[in-house]
Amino acid sequence: MEIRQVSAAERTDTMFPLQTYAFMPSPWPEADREVYAGRMRFYETAVSLVAEEGGQALAGVAAFPMRQNARGAVHDMAGVASVSTHPAARRRGFVRELLWRLLHQMRDQGCTVSALYPFRPSFYGRFGFVGLPRVRTATFAPEGLSHLLRADLPGEVQRLPMAECFDDFNALTLRLLGERHGFSVYDEVRTAEFRESPARWVAVARSGGEVVGAVAYRIDQYGGDLIADDLLVTGSLGRALLLQFFARHVDQVSRVKLTIGTDEVPELWGTDFAVLTEGRVEHPRKGGPMARLLSLEALTGTSTAAKDEAVVVEVVDDEFIGGRYQLSADAGRLVVEPSKAEPQATLTCAGISALAYGVLDPIEVLTRGFGQVDAAAAQSLAALFPKQMPYLFADF
Ligand SMILES: CC(C)(COP(=O)(O)OP(=O)(O)OC[C@H]1O[C@@H](n2cnc3c(N)ncnc32)[C@H](O)[C@@H]1OP(=O)(O)O)[C@@H](O)C(=O)NCCC(=O)NCCS
Repeated sequence: MEIRQVSAAERTDTMFPLQTYAFMPSPWPEADREVYAGRMRFYETAVSLVAEEGGQALAGVAAFPMRQNARGAVHDMAGVASVSTHPAARRRGFVRELLWRLLHQMRDQGCTVSALYPFRPSFYGRFGFVGLPRVRTATFAPEGLSHLLRADLPGEVQRLPMAECFDDFNALTLRLLGERHGFSVYDEVRTAEFRESPARWVAVARSGGEVVGAVAYRIDQYGGDLIADDLLVTGSLGRALLLQFFARHVDQVSRVKLTIGTDEVPELWGTDFAVLTEGRVEHPRKGGPMARLLSLEALTGTSTAAKDEAVVVEVVDDEFIGGRYQLSADAGRLVVEPSKAEPQATLTCAGISALAYGVLDPIEVLTRGFGQVDAAAAQSLAALFPKQMPYLFADF
C-alpha cells in the first residue's frame, strides 16, 4: 500500500467513488460524478491523501485548512473530512495510517488544533480526539413570541437570498470567530461555495448599521415549518431582532425549528413560551463534533481568570503533544513551558484537550479515564481551564 497526496482535480477519480459509496445512497446516478467534479474548485486548499494498491485508491482522508477560536485565541485548525475505505479494504489499518500522516502534515503546515464529526467517537478517541457538544434545536410555534411583535427594538431585519447578503453573512462569521469559544470557519477557497448553495433565505439583523445577527432558513410549506440553521448573534439585541422576525410568521408557519448552542436557554425567551429544546445524538449520522490539540505550547497567551496557579502535567501516549509541561497563569494569560519536574497530573491527549476546550472538569477527566489528577492539581487545572462549552458552527 502506498500513500499519495492527490490534487483537488484528482479527487474525482480517487476519492469520489469511496466517499459516495460510504456516505450517499447507492448505486448513484452517473450525473453525481460531474456535480462532484464541478465542486472541486472549492477543495483546492484541502489536503487529500489516498492509500493505493496496484494503482487503485482504496482509502482516503482529507483536511480543510480552517480557523477556530479556543477561549478567545484563534488557532489554525485541520478540519478532517472525507474519511472512507473501500469495503474490501476495511480493517487493514489504511485509515489509521492515513489519518496520522494527515495530522502530521497539517501540524507541519501550522495547524495547532484539529476537529471532525465522527461516525463513532470511540474510533477517533484512539487518535486523541474528545467529544464537544452537539448543537441543539429549539422548536416552537411563532405565537409564543408574540410579545416581541409589540417591542420597539433599535434595529431592523432584512430578508435576503444568501447570494445577495453573503458578504455580510461571512463577515459576521469572521467576527464570531474572534469572539465565540469553539467557533470555526473554513478558509476563503472553501467558503466561496456557500455563496451559491444551498438555497436559503437569510434574515440579517442590523442595529445602527452594524450586523448584529443572521440566520439562514427555509420554509417547507404554507402552514408548515420554518427550518433555520445556526442562530448567529453578537448579543441579546441580535437574538431579539431575529426572534421578532420569526414571530411575524405567525399566520404563515406552524412551527419554527432553530439550531442553537448549549448556552442558549429558549424557555427564557418569553413568558408562557412553550418550546421543545432537543439535543439528539445518534451514530453514525448525528454525532457531536470532536477536537484535539496538535500543540500544547500554542495555548500560551490564552486568557485565563486564574491567578498564581501553576501545575506540572505529563501528557502520555501522544506523538504530537506527549511530554511534561508546566501550565501557569501570568497576568491573565496562560503560559505553557516544557518541564522536568515531577508531574502532578498524567493526562491523555483527549484529557488535556477536554480541559482546553472547556468540555470536562479535572474530576470528569479522571472519571472518563482520560488521566490521573491529584486533588491539588485538580484545583489548579479547574482554575486554569474553567468549564466553558464551545460552539463549533462549521459542519464538515
Ligand atoms: C470507518 C472506516 C473509515 C474505517 O476505515 P478502516 O481503513 O477500516 O480503518 P482501520 O483499519 O485503519 O482501523 C483503525 C482502527 O480502528 C478499528 N476500527 C475500524 N473500524 C471500526 C469501527 N467501525 N468501529 C470501531 N473500531 C473500528 C480497527 O480495528 C483499527 O484498530 P487497531 O488500530 O487497534 O488495529 C471505514 O470502515 C469506512 O469507510 N466506513 C464507512 C464510512 C465512514 O463511516 N467513514 C467515517 C466518517 S467519520
